[in-house]
Amino acid sequence: MEIIMKDIKYAPIGVFDSGVGGLTVAREIMRQIPDERIVYFGDTARVPYGSKSQDTIIRFSRQIVHFLRTKGVKAVVVACNTASALALETLQPELDIPIIGVVTPGAKVAAETTVNGKIGVIATESTIESQLYTKVIRSHNPRAQVFGKACPLFCPLVEEGWLKDPVTVEVANRYLEPLLATGIDTLVMGCTHYPLLRGTLHQIMGEKVTLVNPAYETARELKCLLEEEGISNDGMKPVKENMHQFYVSDAANKFRQFANSILPFGVDTTQLIHIEDY
Ligand code: DGL
Repeated sequence: MEIIMKDIKYAPIGVFDSGVGGLTVAREIMRQIPDERIVYFGDTARVPYGSKSQDTIIRFSRQIVHFLRTKGVKAVVVACNTASALALETLQPELDIPIIGVVTPGAKVAAETTVNGKIGVIATESTIESQLYTKVIRSHNPRAQVFGKACPLFCPLVEEGWLKDPVTVEVANRYLEPLLATGIDTLVMGCTHYPLLRGTLHQIMGEKVTLVNPAYETARELKCLLEEEGISNDGMKPVKENMHQFYVSDAANKFRQFANSILPFGVDTTQLIHIEDY
């Protein structure tokens, strides 16, 4: 038993998203818990998730978790707000390893950060419709008023690399104007692509609005969880950058280029898998 526990410590963390956005979460995990190895899956063949039904998101997420388990992961991070909002609750009881999402950690911090009790949430249509951010924020801060806004054009703009382009600024102005008018003092970037637009969002929302990045909070929560479960890598087998693994369901080269633009090291290989087989 002791040997098994020792081995679990050196097992990787499975991280998945509908595509490249979850790399912002993987990046935070690498920063905050550099001793942990990551197996990342980006569902680039079936992105976007943000406009799909709950049944579909559950089916996709279940297949991905099956795939990650074949890689011997010790825990799973659902690095996609949409899958966290629509599938996590269903998958949790099906698994015998810890699985966490990005919504609860982000919502908790937003509830603690606000001073005037007015919180904005920007996310995909499905995440906003699920109302999960609102529920979790209210469970921590019952008096909070939550203003949700779906921003479906942000993901393609990020994937195009137009992070500070005038077109992106114009689109962001249109989306954020009604939120600014509500007087929010906290804005949750509730889609894993959005932290890459942080500069533009900050410019529009101004100094008085705190931007919450659930990726940062999720990495913190993962660190605590691994420690509590006694399955953190003890550093006896240090992780090198080339030990992280990246898998996708389509367009491996495009994914690799994107990964290279946001991760602090070069990603040499991205492997293509047929996710429908899992
Ligand atoms: N990564 C997804 C999320 O955080 C957004 C992209 C998509 O629609 O698939 O919700």
